Amino acid sequence: MNVWVFAYGSLIWRPDFKFLERRQARVRGWQRRFWQGSHDHRGVPKQPGRVVTLVPESSAHCDGMAYLLESEVAHRTFEVLDHREKNGYERVAVCVEFSSTEQVDGIMYIAPTDNHAFLGPAPLDDMVAQIRTCEGPSGKNVDYLFELADALRALDADDSHVFELEAAVRTGLEK
Ligand code: BEZ
Repeated sequence: MNVWVFAYGSLIWRPDFKFLERRQARVRGWQRRFWQGSHDHRGVPKQPGRVVTLVPESSAHCDGMAYLLESEVAHRTFEVLDHREKNGYERVAVCVEFSSTEQVDGIMYIAPTDNHAFLGPAPLDDMVAQIRTCEGPSGKNVDYLFELADALRALDADDSHVFELEAAVRTGLEK
């Protein structure tokens, strides 16, 4: 069976895998937050960066991109993604919504609150300072934030948490 994967973070702009089709999509009951530590992509173990995960919130929704994996390659694709996202993320099943009348079963990666790299909420200024200074093998933490914000704008997707953080970081960089 072909499989839908829902992306809400770097997989929106850098999927790095083959897919049959991609469509803008939404998941309900989840909100995107910069609450996960990154020791291996946008930070290092001594100075972890901040990247997104989804946390449950019954009244919220999260917009992103869904990719359809062909059944023959899905297993291998998940192995590669499991390795890429090994720092605290796990796969969960989710209902992926394309419109109010079109929904499919899908898979997404989340970093649950009890994972070893989970940072949780912090004052805006602290998150800004962390994102401005951190860098890892995949690049600067600020570039991750800016690429995510750009990708969401391209989807015309609203996300006040991401856009407020982006604005605060940009203001800091102008100083
Ligand atoms: C995503 O873009 O959906 C994603 C975010 C964090 C970890 C794995 C995938």
